[in-house]
Amino acid sequence: MLVIIKENYQQMSIEAARQVASLIRKKPDCVIGFATGSTPLGLYKELIRMHKEEGLDFSKVVSFNLDEYVGLPPNHPESYHYFMGENLFKHININPTNVHIPMGMAEDIDAFCEWYEQKIIEHGGIDLQILGIGSNGHIAFNEPGSSLGSRTRIKTLNENTRLDNSRFFNSMDEVPKYAITMGVGTIMEAKRLLLLANGVKKADAIKATVEGPIMAKFPATIVQLHRYATVIVDKEAASKL
Ligand code: GLP
Repeated sequence: MLVIIKENYQQMSIEAARQVASLIRKKPDCVIGFATGSTPLGLYKELIRMHKEEGLDFSKVVSFNLDEYVGLPPNHPESYHYFMGENLFKHININPTNVHIPMGMAEDIDAFCEWYEQKIIEHGGIDLQILGIGSNGHIAFNEPGSSLGSRTRIKTLNENTRLDNSRFFNSMDEVPKYAITMGVGTIMEAKRLLLLANGVKKADAIKATVEGPIMAKFPATIVQLHRYATVIVDKEAASKL
């Protein structure tokens, strides 16, 4: 595991964008796993800048998102579909037919999850998976206690996660209780992982992820077992290492 400590959020985002862009330039039809949350916003801004100013070409890039809330339609402002459209996809030249995001409104969720796993395989697997981290150690929506071999499935969100994410909703009652998420096993099959974290609020989570024992109670610790995992953090998130 390579840990890169940057001065601040902007530098963290630029470094992450540099790594994503270098993959796209080397392999224009690469498969990228995208994440949501506030952490990757700076990375997405930088990728948009590279597209507009440097001609970074997304036309052949295939994308798979990590997760989506169950019950939110794609046009709901807090859905991850909407988030990705607003914060990245509508600003770059990605082909909409190459975009995959779990469907929170799927009628048969289990069948959808199987289809999603199959699609990843059909595209040759994920070349680079971007990850944020929840303060309780979750990656995507794999909450503490998730099986370390898990696949794409429905998960119940725990209270801590719902509380963390309630800042985006009018009230706690509106925060969805379930999500569809790639599994820990699905994530670990990506050829490379890029985990980002910033701010002092993530310092404990980063310490556990980098230095702690590997355990399902803290799903992000599994990243230690990945052959090509890079953790990019700012100084605050690295402050307890
Ligand atoms: C959500 C997402 C995760 C993300 C986490 C952290 O729970 N499902 O993929 O890593 O939030 O969010 P933030 O980056 O806003 O701290």
